[in-house]
Amino acid sequence: MKTVRFPDGCLVPALGQGSWMMAEHPARRADEIAALRSGIELGMTLIDTAEMYADGESERLVGEAIAGVRDQVFLVSKAYPQNASRDRLSHACEASLKRLGTDRLDLYLLHWRGAVPLAETAEAMTRLVAAGKILRWGVSNLDADDMAELIAADGAACATDQILYNLARRGPEHDLLPWLTDHSIPVMAYSPVEQGRLLGNPRLGEIAARIGATLAQVALAWTMRSGHSIAIPKAGNVAHVRDNFAASQLDLTTDDLASLDAAFPPPRQRVPLEML
Ligand SMILES: NC(=O)c1ccc[n+]([C@@H]2O[C@H](COP(=O)([O-])OP(=O)(O)OC[C@H]3O[C@@H](n4cnc5c(N)ncnc54)[C@H](OP(=O)(O)O)[C@@H]3O)[C@@H](O)[C@H]2O)c1
Repeated sequence: MKTVRFPDGCLVPALGQGSWMMAEHPARRADEIAALRSGIELGMTLIDTAEMYADGESERLVGEAIAGVRDQVFLVSKAYPQNASRDRLSHACEASLKRLGTDRLDLYLLHWRGAVPLAETAEAMTRLVAAGKILRWGVSNLDADDMAELIAADGAACATDQILYNLARRGPEHDLLPWLTDHSIPVMAYSPVEQGRLLGNPRLGEIAARIGATLAQVALAWTMRSGHSIAIPKAGNVAHVRDNFAASQLDLTTDDLASLDAAFPPPRQRVPLEML
């Protein structure tokens, strides 16, 4: 498994697992838990969830999936912006910990920027680290200007920015990714297969056929190519998890990358950060 290093030295797998849209349908629950467990067995031990997902039910499902193997997992959850204040963040965190059945998060993120000042969120996150409730913290959906503001506002401990980044959403390459690399902050790339839409793309299909891999494997290997980017695909069944896992063994050649650049061109100018 390829790895990515957080600023504090912690190494995590470059390929993790998402959980948005899980726990929405009782009939799929067993498959979703089996998918997460099989991913953990394969080494995709970073699991991303949020208090928002299925109104907390996704965290409960993840808690069930990691029961008995919690210590092997790098557990990530996120707080709503309105909960990221001095008064509310510790309550939101406690509620997430309870649903997840654990005593600490490996990483806690601000889900997106809201009305609470970034400096206040940074302070509230720092308190949670001191209390041992979270091991590190970061943000999500923050563009380069927001990141610069955060770092200037006592946010230098920010461990990551989780953003929409995939072959069809290369905007962050213009300024956000270079900014993060300069500050040694790795990226978590969400929706790395564009919520499944990339998997029907004919140009990607041609390239994947030439490489001898599936479309998902090529899209994920591309997202992880820099060594500073963690891909967190969501897969609701074991077959998709196995398919995705093989992306961690796939090294794209210079020719492969050139074909992908031709089919999915990098940005020529600044593109405001998109979010889903
Ligand atoms: N911070 C944020 O604001 C934010 C926003 C969006 C997402 N996220 C996080 O990022 C994770 C991933 O993003 P996402 O769920 O939006 O989209 P995604 O991972 O790009 O796509 C998920 C979709 O792709 C399908 N899929 C995955 N692997 C496949 C494979 N090998 N073959 C065929 N289909 C496959 C899944 O189907 P099945 O379920 O049938 O396997 C699902 O429909 C989320 O789950 C969440 O944890 C964060």
